[in-house]
Amino acid sequence: MRLPDFKEARTRDIRDYKTVEFKVEDSIKDKYKGMTFHVKTYGCQMNEHDSENIKALLKTIGFTEEENYEKADLVLLNTCSIRENAHNKAFGMLGRLKHLKEERPELLIGLCGCMAQEVSVVEEILKDYKFVNFVFGTHNMHELPNIIDKAIVENKQQIEVLSRESDLVEGLPVVRANNYKAYVNIIYGCNKFCTYCIVPYTRGRERSRKKEDILKEVEELVRDGYKEVTLLGQNVNAYGKDLYDDYNLANLLEDVAKTNIPRIRFTTSHPWDFTDEMIEVIAKYPNIMSHVHLPVQSGSSKVLKLMGRRYTRESYLELFDKMKKTIPGVAISTDIIVGFPGEDEEDFKETLSLVEYCKYDNAFTFIFSTRKGTPAEKLEDNTPLKEKEDRLQRLNEVVNKYFLENNKKLEGEVLPVLVEGISSKKGMYYGYSETNKLINFSSNKDLEIGSIVPVKITASKTWSLDGELDG
Ligand code: SAH
Ligand code: SF4
Ligand code: F3S
Repeated sequence: MRLPDFKEARTRDIRDYKTVEFKVEDSIKDKYKGMTFHVKTYGCQMNEHDSENIKALLKTIGFTEEENYEKADLVLLNTCSIRENAHNKAFGMLGRLKHLKEERPELLIGLCGCMAQEVSVVEEILKDYKFVNFVFGTHNMHELPNIIDKAIVENKQQIEVLSRESDLVEGLPVVRANNYKAYVNIIYGCNKFCTYCIVPYTRGRERSRKKEDILKEVEELVRDGYKEVTLLGQNVNAYGKDLYDDYNLANLLEDVAKTNIPRIRFTTSHPWDFTDEMIEVIAKYPNIMSHVHLPVQSGSSKVLKLMGRRYTRESYLELFDKMKKTIPGVAISTDIIVGFPGEDEEDFKETLSLVEYCKYDNAFTFIFSTRKGTPAEKLEDNTPLKEKEDRLQRLNEVVNKYFLENNKKLEGEVLPVLVEGISSKKGMYYGYSETNKLINFSSNKDLEIGSIVPVKITASKTWSLDGELDG
C-alpha cells in the first residue's frame, strides 16, 4: 500500500527524473482475455487523454471495452478534484457501483485520476468504500496492468498512490477517441500554486516531454491522417523551461507547425509567461489556430493578488490587446471564478467591466469552491453563497451577450470547418471553425467525417452557428 501525502505534494523542489520506455510484462500480457472494462472520465482534457492511455493499458492485459458500465467486468473512474461538484459526481457514481456490486460480487471497481491523489479521499475509501478494488494516482498510471493483476490475484484492496511525480514514461499505448483529432501531452504538472487550485498537488511539478518525443508523435499522427492536434499541459507556456536553455513553446509551436498538420491548438496558457515570441509564431503560421484560451479568473488586481495569479488587471489587458492586434481574427476565451474569499461587490464589478472590455468569444465561469489543503481554504470568506450565485448569474448574462455579439459578426462569412459528425437535426453536419466555434450546417452532398470544408454562415446563436456548405 502506498498512500498520498499532501505535505510532500506541496513541496516545490524540482526533482531529477528520467525518461523511461513503457513495457508490459510478458507474464500478464493478454492474461485477462475475455474480460471487459468501462472507463468513466471526469475533468479536463488531460484526464480525457489519460483515459485514452488507460484504455490501451487495459487492452494490453486482454480486456476489451464495454459501452454499458452495468455490463462491464471492471468499472474504472478517472476522477477530477477541481471543484466540489466533480467530487460529488465521482462519489455518487461509487454509490451506484456499490449496488451493482451487491448484485454482481465479482465486479471490479477502480478509482484513479486527481481525486486519488487527495489524502482525504483515500482515507474515505479505506474507511467507507471497502468494495473499491484498487486505487492508483496520476503519477503511476503506467503501473495499472500490475496493480489490477495484484488486485485480482490477491483478492484484496490495492491502494497505490505516489505523492510526487516519478519518471516520465514514454511509449504508453493509446486508444484515441477520435480518428482525426488528437491530444498530445507536452508538459505535465504545474508549479504556479494559485491559492485556490488543487492541480499542483494532484499533478506534481512541471515536467516537459522532450521535443523529439513530441514531434515524433505529431509526425505519426500526420502519417495516420490526423487533421488536428491539441498540445496539452496545465500551463503550456512553461514548456521547455525545465529541460532547455533555448527552446520554448514558441519554438515547439513552430516545429509542430512545420509538420504540416492542418490544425494546431494548445491549452492551457497562463497569462504570466505568454511571450511576444509566442504571439508572433501564432500569427505567422496559418495552421496554428487563432484561438487562445487565456484564463483571467478575476478583473480585480486585489483579488488576483489573493489568488496568487502573478499578473494584474492592467498587465493582463496589455497582453490581451497585444494578441488582438498581432493575431488576425484571434478568438480569446477565458475562465472566471466569482466569490473568491475577499471579493466584494466593487471587485466583482471590475470583473464585469473587464468582460465588457474583452468581449470574450467563450468563457467558463465558476463559483469558488474550497479545496482541502490549498492556501485559499484559510482565507476569510464573508460572502454568502446566495450572493455568489447572484454574481455568477450576472456575470453569465454579460458573457453570453458577447458570445452572441461575436457570433453575429460571422454571419455571411465563409469559414473552414473540420467535419466532426452528423448532428441530431436531420441531414445536418456539425464541426468546428478555426476559432473553435461549433457550426451546424447543411450540405447538398455527402461529406467525409474528418475533412475540412468551407461553410457559409447563415445564422448565429449564443452557443453555435448555422451554415451551409459553400460551393
Ligand atoms: N491550468 C489552467 C486551469 C485548470 S483548472 C489555468 O491555469 O488556466 C480550470 C479552471 O477551473 C481554472 O481556470 C479556474 O477558473 C477553475 N478553478 C480551479 N480551481 C477552482 C476552485 N477551487 N474553485 C472554482 N474554480 C476553480
Ligand atoms: Fe491551477 Fe494555477 Fe496551475 Fe492553472 S496555473 S493549474 S489554476 S495552479
Ligand atoms: Fe480536474 Fe485534475 Fe484536470 S483536478 S481539471 S482532472 S488536472
